[in-house]
Amino acid sequence: MDPVPRFEVRRGLTTAQVDDLLGLYAGEWWTKDRTPADVERMLDASDLVFAVVECSSGAVVGFARVLTDRVYVALILDVIVAPEHRARGLGRLLVETILEDSGLQAVRSIELVCQPEHVAFYEQWGFSACVGRSGLMRRMADPRLGAPTGHEPSAAPPHD
Ligand SMILES: CC(C)(COP(=O)(O)OP(=O)(O)OC[C@H]1O[C@@H](n2cnc3c(N)ncnc32)[C@H](O)[C@@H]1OP(=O)(O)O)[C@@H](O)C(=O)NCCC(=O)NCCS
Repeated sequence: MDPVPRFEVRRGLTTAQVDDLLGLYAGEWWTKDRTPADVERMLDASDLVFAVVECSSGAVVGFARVLTDRVYVALILDVIVAPEHRARGLGRLLVETILEDSGLQAVRSIELVCQPEHVAFYEQWGFSACVGRSGLMRRMADPRLGAPTGHEPSAAPPHD
């Protein structure tokens, strides 16, 4: 019988693991157009990078990243678990590891953008869509992202 796979969250990615990340990105509507060169630049510029790694193989099966000033605001981006590993607690492991990160403990507002079907997922950790009179505004280089219907995956915002 195969051993039960073990997973851990690591900070940062090796070169080989960047290929795994590109595989994860290829499967999601808001990341599927990302190129290796742009992803390398993005990883370098992201403040915190989290990879869920299968311990035995080193394969990346989950990912998220955070942009933050470590005081006032942090933005969680690109939360993805590989389809074949979903519904086993890895998304929870990822979010809880992010929220426990020492660099985020003083941050006043931890923010994210998500589709309606993920609101209940993030509510488990106290995220709320009640943000007073505030609303999201964007200045977009990609006109598809501002399509008026806005709720189809192909037209929805890129920051899930
Ligand atoms: C969203 C996502 C990261 C969740 O990862 P996952 O590994 O399947 O989640 P988990 O198994 O850790 O789920 C943890 C808990 O959240 C619940 N949950 C998972 N997805 C949920 C959803 N969409 N809505 C409400 N609850 C959800 C699970 O039932 C589980 O509850 P439990 O602990 O009481 O059993 C994953 O579905 C994914 O990668 N989706 C595609 C990419 C995407 O759209 N990401 C969201 C960007 S905002």
